[in-house]
Amino acid sequence: MNMIIKRSLLLILAILITAFIVGCSSESSKTDNQANDTTKLIANEEKPYIGFVLDTLKDERWYKDKELFEGKVTELGGHVKTLAANGSDDIQITQAELLIEEGVDVLVVVPTNADTASSIVEIAHENGVKVISYDRLILNADVDHYISFDNEKVGEMQASAIIAQRTEGNFAYIGGAETDNNAVLLRQGTMRILQPLIDEGKINLVYDNYTDGWNPDVAEENMKAALQDNGNQIDAVIAANDGTAGGVINALATKNLDGDVPVSGQDAELNAIKRIIDGTQTMTVYKSINLLAENAAEIAIQFANEESIATDQTIPNGKIDVPATLLEPIAVTKDNIEETIIKDGYLTTEEIYGK
Ligand code: GAL
Repeated sequence: MNMIIKRSLLLILAILITAFIVGCSSESSKTDNQANDTTKLIANEEKPYIGFVLDTLKDERWYKDKELFEGKVTELGGHVKTLAANGSDDIQITQAELLIEEGVDVLVVVPTNADTASSIVEIAHENGVKVISYDRLILNADVDHYISFDNEKVGEMQASAIIAQRTEGNFAYIGGAETDNNAVLLRQGTMRILQPLIDEGKINLVYDNYTDGWNPDVAEENMKAALQDNGNQIDAVIAANDGTAGGVINALATKNLDGDVPVSGQDAELNAIKRIIDGTQTMTVYKSINLLAENAAEIAIQFANEESIATDQTIPNGKIDVPATLLEPIAVTKDNIEETIIKDGYLTTEEIYGK
């Protein structure tokens, strides 16, 4: 299919997705023309105009990121439009181009793919638009700021919690999406903890792989294959987030192993907290999305007002040392749900215990 047809199809698709997702600017009730006029108005107004481009809204946390980020930008006097690319690199690039054409001052990007998103930074800079890499790092590009959690520490926490339950035996590593730099950092953190025990021959890493698109169904199939290949002899699983952990636990349940095999997670999803209370999941990692979204909104507004951001942290992305803000993750087991997630209001007692 030649490039022109492909690009026009992508443009149509991106516009359709845009029309569908433009919930946040509460413009959806107005007619398209009015919405376009308003968008032009927004672009021409003094107010900072921020574009928030997400990879997906499939995982529970990204809804919280969207709500909290939009709320903070609005509170700080800016306009914000959020678009999600449903895991498509091409659609994300086209959505970023659309927002740049609409006149955004700053783009805040959760890259679908750490490598291909570098072209978004190029296009943005050609148009004088700054780019913040949100939660996930864009590689090999002149990113203006990176804000996330210490993802290697997340991986260390996951492995430490599991070896606290099992110091030896057959282990499986169910990673995140290889296109996501976070998944690479998580695995590095995990291996820093496991490798000495592997070298001592205490732990046998019988399965070690990334999971396409962080897809829970793919994680479930991979775990079923790992059980099959090892005669169901798997003693512990390090899963990179709660979505993949849910898939792993479904697979373990088919062999009545759920609850016997410790499994890690990340994101403090409601179902994961319930599994931790039930005993089928061992832990998750809570990351204050509130802190992440609020800090990112402040930095975006500062950039839009052409202010510089003071930070002494930098993270290399293969091209430059990106100025960074790294936040602290918190390991959560059944023993500290109250003083972490509930205390922060991330989830309520009603949601978790139904009363
Ligand atoms: C990662 C993120 C995790 C996880 C995952 C899947 O980049 O840090 O919190 O949920 O994406 O979307």
